[in-house]
Amino acid sequence: MTQAQLSDGNLWLHFTRSSDWITEHPTVPVLQHGEGCYVYDSHGKRYLDGLSALFCAQVGYGQQALVDAAATQMAKLPFATNWSYAHQPAIDLAEALAARFPGDIDHFFFVNSGSEAVESAMKLAIQYHRSRGEDRWKFISRNYAYHGTSFGALGLTGLPGLRKMFEPLRPGHFHVPNTNEYRCQTSQACPPCDLSCARSFEQQIIAEGADQIAAIFIEPVQNAGGCFTPPPGYLEEVRRICDKYGILMVSDEVICAFGRLGTWTGAERYGYLPDIITFAKGVTSAYQPLGGLGFRHHVADVLQQDRTSMFLHGSTWGGHPVAAAVALANIELFEKEGVLENVQTNGPWFGEQLRGLYDRHEIVGDVRGTGYFWALELVKDREQKIGFSDEESERLLRGFLSRRLLELGLICRADDRDEPVIQLSPPLVDTQVELGEIIAILEQVLTEAAAEMAA
Ligand SMILES: Cc1ncc(COP(=O)(O)O)c(C=O)c1O
Repeated sequence: MTQAQLSDGNLWLHFTRSSDWITEHPTVPVLQHGEGCYVYDSHGKRYLDGLSALFCAQVGYGQQALVDAAATQMAKLPFATNWSYAHQPAIDLAEALAARFPGDIDHFFFVNSGSEAVESAMKLAIQYHRSRGEDRWKFISRNYAYHGTSFGALGLTGLPGLRKMFEPLRPGHFHVPNTNEYRCQTSQACPPCDLSCARSFEQQIIAEGADQIAAIFIEPVQNAGGCFTPPPGYLEEVRRICDKYGILMVSDEVICAFGRLGTWTGAERYGYLPDIITFAKGVTSAYQPLGGLGFRHHVADVLQQDRTSMFLHGSTWGGHPVAAAVALANIELFEKEGVLENVQTNGPWFGEQLRGLYDRHEIVGDVRGTGYFWALELVKDREQKIGFSDEESERLLRGFLSRRLLELGLICRADDRDEPVIQLSPPLVDTQVELGEIIAILEQVLTEAAAEMAA
């Protein structure tokens, strides 16, 4: 497909304004191939992928070991389901994950995407409680958090702009403040954090009926809004609250697992043990679609109480053997190439370079993140912490930044689901050379953006 072919609107894009593609001169790049940390469009233009496609291409492009794993599995057994049957790649993958996920998270259920993983975790939580004789069916998540788009997951998603069109959604969803320390919603004295953000879960639990809440969904580092990291003690406090009220804690690690934070899971990175971890994206480095959930012994025990009990959920493709084989090869590659160690070594360096941008550019109000997962919040007045108006954000992000970043050959995300942010999530195999290239492009773009907004 060439860019011009987009104009006819045969192909519909996800979350993309039609004016960007169903138009005489589409601006959406048509990507044709990838090599290492770069992708190339239909005009042969090269882009440094600063977003790992969509937070998922952990080992970059052109990794022959993953291609070979898929081809070998396709030739051997292209498909078998996990519905009443089993197959070797899914068995081996579950075992490999059990060895790498924390604590007694030893049980794995595979699906095809992050939304499906979240949806499945919701059903698992409800079934867990009802099997124990407790009618818990409500969920709490955080403001602006993105947990997916299917109807259940959309209920957890705390972005009003994504929910409104489809309301009424499933009832029983509640949202509490996140850990935005730059613009704290719960304490005027923040920072330092007094954990009032964590305690807002407890207030919501009491308000909605502690005996009706099934689970809390939380990302270790919240993506939407721009990489809100957890303040010290926050995740432990959420764990304590969940235990106090018999609520399951679900760590939604669709982005954070598989090295994004320098560890196999975000739970390992921050030292807490949730009851369920949801994952997708990086599990195969995006070479195949795969998602899933891992859960602890006590959850599994309840769901296998007697010989007739089963998890009342499933899908045809969940745990597809080709995807499972690729995930196994991906894990092997991570270990062979030292991918986690690369993030542990270079993540702090990348953070320092981003803080250097803060020092040199008044338009950067805040730098947040960890590992290979960072955001720059852009502000109108740094002294006063004044953000851009909706109209100005539109001009800055859509009128200028998105276009200019692409022109300069950098794929990243200029987003305003909360305040305007530039989000960075490079492939985990990036060295300081590629990370430095990202910084150099941002240096130029931020200078130009400030001039543009002053004009
Ligand atoms: C934390 C989180 N949960 C769930 C999802 C949904 O995943 P998918 O797009 O694969 O459905 C995403 C997607 O970005 C996510 O970031």
